Amino acid sequence: MSDIKYSFGLWTTGWQGVDPFGDATRPHLDPAENIRKLAETGAHAFTFHDNDVWPIDATEAQRQAAIDSVKAASEETGLVCEMVTTNTFSHPVFKAGSFTSNDRSIRRYGLRKVLKQVDLGAELGATTFVMWGGREGVEYANSKDLGTAHARYAEGIDTVAAYIKSKGYDMRVALEPKPNEPRGDIFLPTIGHAIALINTLDNGDIVGVNPETGHEQMAGLDYTHGLALALYVNKLFHIDLNGQNGPKYDQDLVFGHGNLLSAFFTVDLLENGSPNGTIAPYQGYRHFDYKPSRTEYIDGIWESAAANIKTYELLAAASKAYRADAEVQAAFEKAGVLDASTTLAAGESFESFLAEPDEDIASLGKRHEGLVHLHQLALNHILG
Ligand code: GCO
Ligand code: MN
Ligand code: MN
Ligand code: MN
Repeated sequence: MSDIKYSFGLWTTGWQGVDPFGDATRPHLDPAENIRKLAETGAHAFTFHDNDVWPIDATEAQRQAAIDSVKAASEETGLVCEMVTTNTFSHPVFKAGSFTSNDRSIRRYGLRKVLKQVDLGAELGATTFVMWGGREGVEYANSKDLGTAHARYAEGIDTVAAYIKSKGYDMRVALEPKPNEPRGDIFLPTIGHAIALINTLDNGDIVGVNPETGHEQMAGLDYTHGLALALYVNKLFHIDLNGQNGPKYDQDLVFGHGNLLSAFFTVDLLENGSPNGTIAPYQGYRHFDYKPSRTEYIDGIWESAAANIKTYELLAAASKAYRADAEVQAAFEKAGVLDASTTLAAGESFESFLAEPDEDIASLGKRHEGLVHLHQLALNHILG
């Protein structure tokens, strides 16, 4: 295996298969056992929601015992906790949102739950705090004042970031966009929406995004393009890799078990950066947020977890061969992909620019970039 670092959410391999139509198809998995099995599978780190490890109604003693058991498994296996997050979506109190609830008491409860998890994350050494606002949204457009809802969402996120700074924690916040499910429409549905709100925050310097493959694809968007924007504006603080087949319910398949070509270009960008170096390779954990399909029994949990790593490794190796291939580099050159020139020259005046004669558009219209050939070369590498 390569030296790429992989991590998994405890809620992924711990998912028992409960869906809106059916009961659990697998028994409960103890979080400490989950960590041990993830270590055997080849992971380097784990992530979790508070209520993946203890129930929302746990006493303080029960909560502490659960944390101690996770800490012990972490020390025993060497698997580190790289990110934590908060469950502000399962309990009925959150049915109409947490930070964007119309009820101030619910917002205050939700914020306190999040800040407690920030403290625990810092104690465990997590450097990323993910916020997926799954219930922050509506089914009906008039359920909330949409201005106030966004203002409250911004206030909540900014408060978490301010709290992290006030404590001096080495931690950044990563917002996770998703267009819908469980709400009919979720606020901050895409990477671009999230970055727009982050830019309004007082403490936005430590707030970025945690884009998930399937979530962008549910919105019909190109995940790799979203990652590129986030990398370009230095906001890619974390990633959720998985598989999805187009705009439908959130499938959370194994990475690459959906749109494989898109998965290849995602890995190619993360591992190698953009072809002419405008975007540098990604440095963070390759974090999987998938679900072992409900059809699988216990062996299937670990077969599917391993499949995420295996697929990533195969695509990473293919991406290296693709970039090293002289024919690919020549095709990049022909297409103009390696050219990083700006459109105006440094210091060029509007006057001199506008005074130039127009370019020969008849001949430029006949330009052949060889893009299908270039894409086929990528496909050849993917298929070995
Ligand atoms: C989903 C989300 C979640 C989040 C998790 C971390 O669609 O269910 O992807 O799995 O990633 O809550 O905040
Ligand atoms: Mn998902
Ligand atoms: Mn998900
Ligand atoms: Mn996710």
